[in-house]
Amino acid sequence: MPGVLHGKNIVLGVTGSIACYKALDLASKLVQAGALVNTIMSYGATRFVTPLAFRSITHRPVVTETFDPDSELSVEHVALAESADIVVVAPATAHFIAKMAAGLADDPLTTTILATRAPMMVAPAMDAHMYDNPATQENLSKLKDRGVLIVGPAIGRLASGLVGMGRLVETPELVGNISALLGRKGDLAGYTVVVSAGGTQEPVDPVRVITNRSSGKMGYAVAEVARDRGARVVLVTAPTSLADPVAVEVVKVGTALEMRDAVKDSVAGADALIMAAAVADYMPVSPASQKVKKDSDTWSIGLGKTPDILEESRGRFIKVGFAAESEDLLENARGKVLRKSLDLIVANDITAEGSGFGTDTNKVVLVDRDGGVEDLPLMSKHEVAHRILDRVRQLL
Ligand code: PMT
Repeated sequence: MPGVLHGKNIVLGVTGSIACYKALDLASKLVQAGALVNTIMSYGATRFVTPLAFRSITHRPVVTETFDPDSELSVEHVALAESADIVVVAPATAHFIAKMAAGLADDPLTTTILATRAPMMVAPAMDAHMYDNPATQENLSKLKDRGVLIVGPAIGRLASGLVGMGRLVETPELVGNISALLGRKGDLAGYTVVVSAGGTQEPVDPVRVITNRSSGKMGYAVAEVARDRGARVVLVTAPTSLADPVAVEVVKVGTALEMRDAVKDSVAGADALIMAAAVADYMPVSPASQKVKKDSDTWSIGLGKTPDILEESRGRFIKVGFAAESEDLLENARGKVLRKSLDLIVANDITAEGSGFGTDTNKVVLVDRDGGVEDLPLMSKHEVAHRILDRVRQLL
């Protein structure tokens, strides 16, 4: 299933900041995700980056003038405004934000913005003092009150040499916010989905832990796709090296016991719980309070069972588990459906090439509580997430 950006008509407004070069990367990522990107550049933006650069990336004409006699569109700003699924201004300068707040229409981008009914996102980029200025803050508040999503700016080193608030946020954060905004009326709108991810870490002493090979990719993919389909998403995650997904409530935990508490708190009032986390089955019974010295040749660690979070979680929500198996996939998965009273289990063949821990793809079989089996081919973890959420949607 294609992602939320696929086939979407995105108007990308680019205004005159040194951060214009980052908008090229944004345009590229949107095009790679299957979006149709129409770029409108302010005069200032064309001084930093050429329209040809955007044209080469988007394979679309770039608008720089309100009345272009060579344009293929009769009245360009109206045509783009009407066809847009979303209007994104990145980077947005203090000057452009002021024009937008004042409702001016003196260039192709401001006219498009006034003429569109599409949702709008603005990503400011400017000097820290300009951002702090009450005039800019007031203008941004006006835009927020009108329903414009303001993303950033981020804190960091600015072109002026100053360190402060004013950097354009990075491309993944822009793409995440665009996806979330486009998906807000998706088929999971109005539902809350709790997702767990990553491998828990059980302390042995203050420096050592017992953990597993989970990277968190599968759980994060479920969280992102649920968000892109309109759900409110709570992601309970054990430590991973992945960036927090945007527009998702992220709860960070370490141990199985912490994950149990966080899931228990989050699932109250939720519509679905999807446990993709690899939760430790055993934890050290008495972790040492000081670092254990390597004085002896062997070391035995007493382990006790962790609570089974899925089994313990009860309520009026859909329960989906994962089963990472290296043998007897279906038999083991069926046993877990019954034992943990699940609606669905995602049986994960971790012996298959490109499947399981750490990969970007996965090979799974969906097994439901009535014994129904859906054997899916190897696909990306985001596609697997879509297939799981299709089933959750049917069950809701
Ligand atoms: O994170 P990645 O690198 O992308 O890898 C993805 C994955 C392989 C971790 C994922 O696809 C997966 O299979 N997750 C479940 C792994 C697992 O722990 O399976 P299990 O068979 O041990 O547990 C069954 C289910 O019970 C799981 O949903 C698990 O979250 C849950 N469980 C397990 C133990 C426990 N104490 N409490 C639980 O709730």
